[in-house]
Amino acid sequence: FESIQVGELAKLMGVKAGDLIKRALQLGMPLTINQSIDPDTAAILADEFGYQVEKALIEEEILLQYTPPSPEELKPRPPVVTVMGHVDHGKTSLLDAIRKTDVVSREAGGITQHIGAYTVSLDGGKKITFIDTPGHEAFTSMRARGAQVTDIVILVVAADDGVMEQTKEAIEHARAAGVPIVVAINKIDKPNANPEKVKSQLAELGLVPEEWGGETLMANISARNKIGIEDLLELVLLQAEMLDLKAAYERPARGRVIESRLDKGKGPVATILVQEGTLKEGDIFVCGNTYGRVRAMFDSYGNRLSIATPSTPVEILGFEELPSAGDDFFVLEDEEKARKVAEYRQRKAREAETAKEAKISLEKIFEKL
Ligand code: GTP
Ligand code: MG
Repeated sequence: FESIQVGELAKLMGVKAGDLIKRALQLGMPLTINQSIDPDTAAILADEFGYQVEKALIEEEILLQYTPPSPEELKPRPPVVTVMGHVDHGKTSLLDAIRKTDVVSREAGGITQHIGAYTVSLDGGKKITFIDTPGHEAFTSMRARGAQVTDIVILVVAADDGVMEQTKEAIEHARAAGVPIVVAINKIDKPNANPEKVKSQLAELGLVPEEWGGETLMANISARNKIGIEDLLELVLLQAEMLDLKAAYERPARGRVIESRLDKGKGPVATILVQEGTLKEGDIFVCGNTYGRVRAMFDSYGNRLSIATPSTPVEILGFEELPSAGDDFFVLEDEEKARKVAEYRQRKAREAETAKEAKISLEKIFEKL
């Protein structure tokens, strides 16, 4: 690197810019936060804080290498749609109806405890990627992550039960992520179903149906009896069209971990949502604090894939260590560099952990005093 700003260097090392400037002054170097300094000066200052500048800048170098795609590189991509809602309101059943499979009956206790991701090809050739999330109250962070990787949320509300705690939570996640909501009022086959009541409950929360002069797209459905599914999908495609979703295909892949698990036979396995570029078998990658090489890729039906394009969820083998859900993922040209970035990130994570522990033990001491 040619030069770095004092503030940037402080940020990379996780120290206050003020502390860095004070130390520099003590060393006879008056600096300001926006001042650019050369690598030698940076190295001296970093050393004062126990850092080696070279390592600390690897990550920045990679971030600097990233150039956002130009408009000519962009091509349409399928929408990513996350299904959210209160426990047992019929999210997985809806996806089953769409995929014409039966996941629900194979789930332990009929409760979703992980995120499922599937790409569905609709009649007419259009594709949609769906992400299922659990409704159980224990899985807030999974829902938050589901909302963050998605373009559209389908909010499932059971017409007999109405708006419940996790319905409201899902609305908050979608709003926090700035994602439009399409409502599926489910279980309209039930004798005690009251879709009009659900609409008024939703309207109170700011989701006003179009028929009442609002802007929220809503469909009455029965996932079990496969009623209204086509209408709902049309609304989702309509919403997607308004978003004009695009991505660059011809570049190294970037994405995010949707879920990960340690498989007894296969080792670390993770589902990645490809968000940009094309992922290929053999690609070298960094993922969170770990790295690896794509040894094999599978779609949600277990079919082996050799490439994966934007909006495709893929299960990947070839991680050095298990990444965490929500981790970033990006392809790099060389393994040595990937390893270095992962090591740097691990060290940073350990330092953050140590700092946290130190803080906690200090707090404990003060508590005792
Ligand atoms: P979690 O993932 O645990 O939050 O639940 P879920 O929202 O995925 O609900 P799921 O699809 O597992 O359905 C819960 C129960 O509701 C199951 O017994 C389904 O058979 C039933 N169910 C789902 N959709 C309908 C429907 O349209 N009508 C009726 N009558 N029952 C439904
Ligand atoms: Mg479910």
